[in-house]
Amino acid sequence: MIAPQMKINKAVFPVAGMGTRFLPATKAQPKEMLTIVDKPLIQYAVEEAYEAGIRQMIFVNGRSKRAIEDHFDTAYELEAELEAAGKNELLELVHTIKPHDMECIYIRQAKAFGLGHAVLCAQSVVVNEPFAVLLADDLMVGSPPVLKQMVERFADWQASIIAVQEVPEEHTSRYGIVAGTPVNDRMMDVTQIVEKPKPENAPSRLGVAGRYILTPGVFREIANQPRGVGGEIQLTDGIAGLMRREKVFALRYEGRRYDCGSKEGFLEANVELALAHPKLGPGFRDYLKTLTL
Ligand code: G1P
Repeated sequence: MIAPQMKINKAVFPVAGMGTRFLPATKAQPKEMLTIVDKPLIQYAVEEAYEAGIRQMIFVNGRSKRAIEDHFDTAYELEAELEAAGKNELLELVHTIKPHDMECIYIRQAKAFGLGHAVLCAQSVVVNEPFAVLLADDLMVGSPPVLKQMVERFADWQASIIAVQEVPEEHTSRYGIVAGTPVNDRMMDVTQIVEKPKPENAPSRLGVAGRYILTPGVFREIANQPRGVGGEIQLTDGIAGLMRREKVFALRYEGRRYDCGSKEGFLEANVELALAHPKLGPGFRDYLKTLTL
């Protein structure tokens, strides 16, 4: 059980994946550093957490992920040169990547045992608080931001909340799938969660998007899990264990998810966010109109 009226202060970003679906682009750089318009995926996720009131960002990384640490670090040479050149707007842009009140903590996941294992690696920093998990390759666009929608619900419900969306029947095997009882128009009391079921075994078509608020009880459950789908320790299985002890809710969030772990979703995100970009949008729209498709 968690203490009453806990707030979400910490976010965990599992970023140790190999990114094989994006080779060769990810041979020497993390997939989370792939760019949508002008920002890396990980920055979108960190900004989403920040806008949800979270100030402690915990990155669970692996080998070849130094670019992420560098991205959220001070870049003295760059900043000195921008300052000397009077490029104040760009300097400001660089400074906003890591606001002063944001703390970044890095943990190594020495072995790639899966998403559940990655989250478990953050236990010694999260300790006994509810926390958020954001999968940066799910780029979420919402107003308010999707994690903020979840944090607001958490303030009322004080229980784990998973972001879900309806997915096509033929895609159930790409997601954690939940089923449960509606408690209001958007929230559901989860009674079942299964990792990547085939359509014929899926309990519903509600797929888990890469945003979670979890109570610390999930750590014990993950630690007790045998390897699941794909031979990995699955976060979904840990949540299934948690459900036997505590309430877990699902939120049908308002917003759009881009699956930037797939090339199609990545391209869609780039096109749509470029169109929505205040400076680039109008010109890009005109350019697209010139294409004969
Ligand atoms: C992970 C989770 C899955 C979830 C998905 C969302 O899978 O295991 O339950 O639905 O993220 O993107 P992955 O895409 O890492 O295989």
